[in-house]
Amino acid sequence: MATRFESKTAVVSGAGGALGASVAQSFAAEGVKSLILADLNPAALEALANSLPSDITVTTEALDVTNGDQFDALIADTVERFGTVDTLVNTAGIVSPNARIHNLSTTDWERAFSVNLTGTFHGIRAVARALRKKSPVSIVNIASVSGLTAWAYAAPYCASKAGVIHLTRVAALEYAKEGLRVNAVCPGTFPSALHEGLPQEALDSIEAKHPLGFGTPTDITGAVLYLASDESSWVTGQSIVVDGGYSLP
Ligand SMILES: NC(=O)c1ccc[n+]([C@@H]2O[C@H](COP(=O)([O-])OP(=O)(O)OC[C@H]3O[C@@H](n4cnc5c(N)ncnc54)[C@H](O)[C@@H]3O)[C@@H](O)[C@H]2O)c1
Repeated sequence: MATRFESKTAVVSGAGGALGASVAQSFAAEGVKSLILADLNPAALEALANSLPSDITVTTEALDVTNGDQFDALIADTVERFGTVDTLVNTAGIVSPNARIHNLSTTDWERAFSVNLTGTFHGIRAVARALRKKSPVSIVNIASVSGLTAWAYAAPYCASKAGVIHLTRVAALEYAKEGLRVNAVCPGTFPSALHEGLPQEALDSIEAKHPLGFGTPTDITGAVLYLASDESSWVTGQSIVVDGGYSLP
């Protein structure tokens, strides 16, 4: 069994969702010592926690990533309890309404930014406040291939994910000499609750643009765990694309 995370403490935001849960299960499969699962949805966290091996210390925490004070408290409490945070995976995210720009409200725009970009900023900031110059941390942000390629009818989502990719670079530069690495993963499409309500024809047309077809969360976790682990110790500020070939044309 791989044990890259033996003796490590990992925090996963958005752990109640499809990718967050898969990341948590992968950390568990690789022997993580302590796992802090955070999300807006406590029921999903409980179900996930109950599915994990009993030899791991699992903590579930209510967290709204748009609230910077909550994120600061989560990281500070984790450091107090476990000594450090070895890795934070910022997975929480939402999509924006399927609409062209002239039909979007300012609230639609701001909501996507507050969860996807400001939420990621809050996670990075909380770790930097608690651990820079004290303890090495690998932060992994979940962006999207839509932050690199343009998707019509999804301006707030695309623009906020492009922001995550650039925030990743700036944070990596700012904290490289203070022990923090910051990287991102840009997934292509894997069906999840994010796609609820999309008509089948829309899903089929998205799938047709992925040369390898739709992915699954476990197609993404390998890149996430590589970046979270010491194997990537000389990698920072990068965004790894895992998209079934979506971005090739
Ligand atoms: N599914 C895809 O095709 C796809 C593709 C590219 C990128 N992504 C990104 O992957 C990440 C996970 O997506 P998923 O497909 O697992 O979606 P999901 O909806 O299954 O999971 C998202 C999770 O984020 C949580 N969340 C939402 N707002 C939150 C907030 N304010 N505070 C805390 N938690 C909050 C939700 O409760 C949910 O559990 C997202 O950042 C998404 O943008 C997904």
